[in-house]
Amino acid sequence: MKILGIDHLGIAVKSIEEGRAFWNGVLGLAFAGAETVAEQKVTTAFFPVGESEVELLESTAPDGPVARFIEKKGEGIQHIAFRVEDLDAALAELKDRGVALIDATPRRGAGGARIAFLHPKATGGVLVELCERPGR
Ligand code: CO
Repeated sequence: MKILGIDHLGIAVKSIEEGRAFWNGVLGLAFAGAETVAEQKVTTAFFPVGESEVELLESTAPDGPVARFIEKKGEGIQHIAFRVEDLDAALAELKDRGVALIDATPRRGAGGARIAFLHPKATGGVLVELCERPGR
């Protein structure tokens, strides 16, 4: 597979408003908007950094994956997303190699991206997302 770069860092927060006070207010990263992805029970706020982004993730429901992450581990980095050239080809390659996947087929992420998560048991405990963005 061809990895093009780090697309974003996903950071679980209890409150995007409070997170924004640090990432925007203190570090000075531009706040580029927020988007709710209903099927993942999450609202995502974007702070571009060069070719990458910091993405703050706030759960929209107590049983959402981000809420469960915070319950277990507290606030902090939840996943790392790599941008790939061809997500379908990358997933086919991982399946061939027997790598455990959370998403065997791509799903829709924020910002019109196609995304898929690898299982942390296959990555040394890191939740890894692969992400394909049309036109980038
Ligand atoms: Co992500």
